[in-house]
Amino acid sequence: MAQVSDKRLLRALRGEVLDRPPIWLMRQAGRYLPEYRETRAKAKGFLDLCYSPNLAAEVTHQPLRRFAFDAAILFADILLVPDALGQGVAFKEGEGPVLGAITDEAGLTALSLANVEAHLAPVFETVAKLSATLPNDVALIGFAGSPWTVATYMVGGRGSPDQRAARVWAYRDPDGFAKLIDLVTEATVLYLQQQIDAGAEVIQLFDSWAAQLPDHEFDCWVIAPTAKIVAGLNESHPDVPIIGFPRGAGAAGVRYAAETGVTAIGLDTGTPIAWARENLQNRLPVQGNLDPLTLVAGGTALEGEARRILTGFGNGPHIFNLGHGIVPETPPENVARLVDIVTSWKNS
Ligand code: CP3
Repeated sequence: MAQVSDKRLLRALRGEVLDRPPIWLMRQAGRYLPEYRETRAKAKGFLDLCYSPNLAAEVTHQPLRRFAFDAAILFADILLVPDALGQGVAFKEGEGPVLGAITDEAGLTALSLANVEAHLAPVFETVAKLSATLPNDVALIGFAGSPWTVATYMVGGRGSPDQRAARVWAYRDPDGFAKLIDLVTEATVLYLQQQIDAGAEVIQLFDSWAAQLPDHEFDCWVIAPTAKIVAGLNESHPDVPIIGFPRGAGAAGVRYAAETGVTAIGLDTGTPIAWARENLQNRLPVQGNLDPLTLVAGGTALEGEARRILTGFGNGPHIFNLGHGIVPETPPENVARLVDIVTSWKNS
């Protein structure tokens, strides 16, 4: 039988209320660290960095050498799945991701599950390297994008403020759009199962564009595919906890928590603490939700907000994190200050 881990993140995910919460930060590896920029310059491009196990493992380790985080998150990207399905993804300097847009059912013929696992093999190698080299008390988080969020990039061909292209296809032709969602869902289950087999101890599903969907669309494109992924992973790997992050879901987060089967829910910056305590943390562990811009500002804003979150969520299971990823202009010394505040905290 698998041994129950006493790593702080895993204890919080089992629902334990701890003396202080575990801490890790979304995008804890990245451009705000000079050593990341240096390693990044050695790779041919961002995707090359993701597919080079030595370099990807190195950048995963970098924040842990500076800060006492309780977890490491695999260095990769949510858009590796469309790349593995055959869509072709490019990251252009200063522009973000660009994909050949697929806007109708006919476009799906370009995609196939056949090469997904072989294409993503370097990522599994990165996970295995990390699993062998991380400090004993640090948990290893694997991840993927949720199908809706990944599909918004596949259909739009790039990021967009309102995910217009995917929303229009989903309204115009829900059956065709469902085929795209099903394909991404299936690829994601395979991808995450192999991450776990290689050593990932926790999974996070990023649904960064879950805002703005009406009830029925939220049920079809956010809740249902997430529930399928959770069921698939629970079947093959019942002991691995799953954190769902439906950014911008608001009150629909209550249905998400009840119906997807996720172990814990990530809260974005705008989620009121008192509301989340009463509607979510009473049922499952919560993660979040410091505004990443307080990490840019530093000083009393950072300290005040960090303490407000520690106090607000201190009586239930809680994982300290941001409400969205670290931004590139963040001074690393502010991250050090935050980790200090959280790791020296004692719940009363
Ligand atoms: O440290 C970590 O959190 C792990 C690595 C990680 C990255 N992206 C690295 C990355 C993770 C978990 C992600 C998730 C991701 N990727 C999401 C979901 C979370 C979120 O931020 O909403 C999304 C939507 C993406 C897609 C993506 N990747 C975009 C839109 C961009 C361009 C915007 C940007 O920030 O540059 C990326 C690039 C990216 N992914 C970078 C990093 C470190 C910067 C690339 C570079 O070095 O040039």
